Amino acid sequence: MRAVVLNSHGQIDEVVGLATVQEPPLRPSDLRVEMRAASVNPIDWLIVAGALRVLPDEAFPLLLGSDGAGVVTAVGTDVTGFSVGDQVFFRVAPDRTGTFATVAVVDAALAAPMPASVSFVEAAGIPLVALTAWQGLVEQARVEAGQRLLVHGGAGAVGAAVVQIARHLGLHVTATAGTEDVEWVRGLGAEQVIDYRTQSFANEAEPYDVVFDTVGGETQDRSFSVLKRGGTLVSVLGVTDADKKAELHDVSVRPFFMRPDGAQLARMAALVDAGALRSRTDSVFPLEAAPQALSRSASGRAKGKVIISVDE
Ligand SMILES: NC(=O)c1ccc[n+]([C@@H]2O[C@H](COP(=O)([O-])OP(=O)(O)OC[C@H]3O[C@@H](n4cnc5c(N)ncnc54)[C@H](OP(=O)(O)O)[C@@H]3O)[C@@H](O)[C@H]2O)c1
Repeated sequence: MRAVVLNSHGQIDEVVGLATVQEPPLRPSDLRVEMRAASVNPIDWLIVAGALRVLPDEAFPLLLGSDGAGVVTAVGTDVTGFSVGDQVFFRVAPDRTGTFATVAVVDAALAAPMPASVSFVEAAGIPLVALTAWQGLVEQARVEAGQRLLVHGGAGAVGAAVVQIARHLGLHVTATAGTEDVEWVRGLGAEQVIDYRTQSFANEAEPYDVVFDTVGGETQDRSFSVLKRGGTLVSVLGVTDADKKAELHDVSVRPFFMRPDGAQLARMAALVDAGALRSRTDSVFPLEAAPQALSRSASGRAKGKVIISVDE
């Protein structure tokens, strides 16, 4: 099979290339999937740079790519519920990267039937970010309908999923976004959008039950001042001295790392088909142009998901 491989840590253009490699073995619980599209996530270029170590023993060449969509071409002997020919989407286990390839192997428990209403390109952009948004809201913050939520980075891939899922769950949503994205985020359903370049979210009078942080740094630091006592700060960026800050501000602080989950992803597919969750595509690159796709995502200029499309 052909796959995008990482030959050592370093600059994207110097260490990422396309290679012919052996297919991963199909375990009894696995699906073999012919890939149609995969999405670039920040985790991918962080792996390239060596800033994030996901595999217990990182051995080169390393296959890249964390989520995507394709067609099942073989099922392991223990698999039930999937058949050859099914269109599926998934986020692979963190120690099993390799969706930037013509073929990927994924544990069937981490895959779900693709939403019927979208293309492979749009479906590929959903698994990692939608699971992150759902787990942050439902498992970490344990949100309830009617609560006030502030989402930082509402125009980003994760933030946009948070806005849409939060609206579906009946929250009152305020989001921060850059000037050019304010109207787009409002269109996702946010009741209020604060332009982070010209306004301070800390000036808002009414405090929030939950802040969902996809930005980190100073934005995260200032978020404690807008939380109600007993509120929750959820962050996908990590929080330094989380326990101290929780005690000081009398709030819960929940940094977390998302996990793949096929059953939960099936719920996300239902939200997509119900029109409650959509994914914005910034750009589509062929497999051969994976370095450019990674660079586009790492540039911080992408508006929506950068997708790698795999020809049949
Ligand atoms: N822990 C986990 O499980 C997990 C899972 C997924 C992602 N992540 C992390 O989450 C972060 C976001 O990922 P993503 O895929 O959503 O990235 P993305 O699509 O590039 O989105 C980032 C967004 O943040 C916005 N932003 C930047 N500075 C801001 C500020 N000061 N206030 C408000 N918004 C601001 C950007 O807007 P502009 O266009 O205006 O710059 C952009 O819309 C990344 O750091 C990623 O590594 C963690």
